[in-house]
Amino acid sequence: MSFLAKAAAGIRYVLAVLLSGDEKSRYVLAEALARQVYPRYKFSEFGRLIEYDEDFIKFYETYCGTDNYHSLDRKYTLNQLMKVCALLEGDTAECGVYQGASSYLICRHIAGLGKSHHLFDSFSGLSKPGPKDGNHWTQGDMACDEAVVRENLKEYDFVVYHRGWIPDKFHEASSKRFCFVHIDVDLYQPTYDSLAFFYERTSPGGIILCDDYGFITCPGAKSAMDSFFLNEPEHIVCLPTGQGFVIKK
Ligand SMILES: C[S@@+](CC[C@H](N)C(=O)[O-])C[C@H]1O[C@@H](n2cnc3c(N)ncnc32)[C@H](O)[C@@H]1O
Repeated sequence: MSFLAKAAAGIRYVLAVLLSGDEKSRYVLAEALARQVYPRYKFSEFGRLIEYDEDFIKFYETYCGTDNYHSLDRKYTLNQLMKVCALLEGDTAECGVYQGASSYLICRHIAGLGKSHHLFDSFSGLSKPGPKDGNHWTQGDMACDEAVVRENLKEYDFVVYHRGWIPDKFHEASSKRFCFVHIDVDLYQPTYDSLAFFYERTSPGGIILCDDYGFITCPGAKSAMDSFFLNEPEHIVCLPTGQGFVIKK
């Protein structure tokens, strides 16, 4: 077959799939196209339930918008992990809050349990990247006004705001214990400082989840997790979402 004949057959196939409305065929086509454009990305099996979870997708679109779905799977995972530790002893915390979408999910799980949820953020974006952080991030990235977070979390009266650079405000929670800690600050130093503070305060069976562990854009966060847990008994579970977590022994 000539090149032109092949191209025409290809176009006919694409049009037929698009007109058919058959979801599985569209998925197969998208996979074939993506393989040509970006072969490093590996499609999963067709029909994962997350793609049909209308309630969860609605939550995501409300708090993260519809521009991209880059953290849908990570938020989904966080939401699932909360199920296994919400009832353990202790409060919850998030280091690096941005607009509060993950904190909203955490709050949903602990509402009515008599716990507090502690937020630690500069509300001025990232601190200055250090030598272990590569060159993806710039100081001030991901800045979000505290008022936006307060609006997003207004239905929860148990949220405690600790505004400031990590670790400056950790002392305000030094007497607390925690069942779940979400660390999402992208950089080495605040990730390490967060681990150093929260690890000993995390209840057995509690979870420390690092949002940035498995991304080539966040080498500092991975390095902080790896070096901190080198001398601890927990193993870091690295997820295909890019997150890494430990279950406290
Ligand atoms: C990736 S965003 C957090 C996203 C959020 N966890 C979510 O799930 O939507 C990173 C956040 O970390 C905060 N941050 C980064 N470095 C910090 C530091 N050294 N001290 C305090 N906050 C910091 C930024 O202000 C920003 O809100």
